[in-house]
Amino acid sequence: MTAKFNPEQYKTTTRQQWEDAAEAWHRWGPTLESWLGTSTERMLEGAGVTEGSRVLDVAAGAGGQSFAAARRVGPKGRVLATDISPTILAYAAKAAAEAGIDNLETQTVDGEELDVAEAGFDAVISRVGLIYFPDQQRALAGMRRALRAGGRISAVVYSTPEKNEFFSIPVGVIRRRAQLPPPLPGQPGPFSLGGPGVIAQAFEQAGFHDVTVETVPAPLRMPTSADCVRFERDSFGALHQMLSGLSEAEREEAWEEIATELGRFESAEGFVGPCEMLVASGTK
Ligand SMILES: C[S@@+](CC[C@H](N)C(=O)[O-])C[C@H]1O[C@@H](n2cnc3c(N)ncnc32)[C@H](O)[C@@H]1O
Repeated sequence: MTAKFNPEQYKTTTRQQWEDAAEAWHRWGPTLESWLGTSTERMLEGAGVTEGSRVLDVAAGAGGQSFAAARRVGPKGRVLATDISPTILAYAAKAAAEAGIDNLETQTVDGEELDVAEAGFDAVISRVGLIYFPDQQRALAGMRRALRAGGRISAVVYSTPEKNEFFSIPVGVIRRRAQLPPPLPGQPGPFSLGGPGVIAQAFEQAGFHDVTVETVPAPLRMPTSADCVRFERDSFGALHQMLSGLSEAEREEAWEEIATELGRFESAEGFVGPCEMLVASGTK
């Protein structure tokens, strides 16, 4: 029998898993920004972020895309970076201070319960965050409330497992070894918004119009496949959550299988992990 999905318990585990992965996500920042740089630019364009914009970033993590937004809006604009994990946000605040970015604030808040100024933002952005929300409609409703009339939302999510083998292979190996069922439609999961039409439908259901979805190739380039395994092992909190039911030795075996499988994407030119993002945008 399959255990019933418990959204509150899922969220508690998600928060803890990002508390634990916070340092690693911050440490891998340069890799993240070169991997997700194009998607990030497309998201900022899609959200209409420009000089002077007031930007709300939901599930901001260690802040890579928040800093890109802060640089774009300049001294007349501002960015509020929010996340459920206080530890990962502390890395964002510290890095912003070190980089002299003074138009950025942070706020620890659940993205499904956004306690921010109503109609107080010109743009809402979220980079690989929405997939973690058990109630995506609730999150989208809060984001819409935060936007002024005519304000824009844009989010980056993974497309399908077939186009994202750098991640779907580890997910598949762990799911099989830990005997986990795939998430049901509507439940959170890495590829939950990636199917044809899924994120567009979610945005429209939440009341956004002029919805567009752009496909952005985002190959993950690293020196070797072992670097990719280290990156995912260090910082992909979702994988740790899925592994939690296995013993230490079983986890080790799972990572060994993942390393073998990802080896097929390594050549003389280095490792190129297949990855494709969707950038979905809409207007309030
Ligand atoms: C894959 S990371 C992405 C971080 C950042 N946007 C980036 O692209 O580097 C996912 C983030 O979602 C956050 N998150 C997960 N569930 C959340 C929730 N319910 N509310 C707010 N943030 C959440 C995690 O704490 C984590 O920082």
